[in-house]
Amino acid sequence: MNWLYLSSVNSTNTYLKDNYQKLKHWTILRADYQSKGRGRLNHVWQSHKKENLLCSILLKDAKLFKEYSSLCLIVGVSIYKLLTKLGIENVKIKLPNDIYVNHGKICGILLESIFLDDKPQALVIGIGLNLNQKSFSQRLTATSYYQIKKRAIDIDKVLKELVKILKIELEKIKPNYYQRLLKQYHNTIITK
Ligand code: BTN
Repeated sequence: MNWLYLSSVNSTNTYLKDNYQKLKHWTILRADYQSKGRGRLNHVWQSHKKENLLCSILLKDAKLFKEYSSLCLIVGVSIYKLLTKLGIENVKIKLPNDIYVNHGKICGILLESIFLDDKPQALVIGIGLNLNQKSFSQRLTATSYYQIKKRAIDIDKVLKELVKILKIELEKIKPNYYQRLLKQYHNTIITK
């Protein structure tokens, strides 16, 4: 594991994509602030400085490139397990890539692949998990750990726990795993 930290960056996903050639498999970048945090479908990811988990993980294992859809679900399941471990109930995985608690979005996942000459080189898993932010713009149906549990949590400890869970879950990948996971988590998965 190669842990990186930046107080400010354009986007943790963009940083890993721009630098993937010189970075190792399982490089984990956390930032306090992103000036150009990105969501899916060109959305902007907003987060108060130092209040939430903003991180990206670079994976360079060729086996994983073929398992793209399983990977989306495995990241969702890992966040589900993490939040459950933190004592949060009623966590739902909204496919493809959001995590909701009581109708509020607590986490967004942005999975990106890097290609060179049409060949996959690496994957970047970007995670924005709302932890200590107390309030959100009314336009957003967002929630956070703080809003749910009425107390703050150590962001670094949450990241360490997440990486631990994710590593275990990724080691379980095998052919047809997506269907098995869908079945196993059907009560937890929502699609709209
Ligand atoms: C979404 O909800 O559409 C996905 C949001 C993903 C946000 C995270 S924050 C860390 C990483 N860096 C980014 O620019 N985006 C992801």
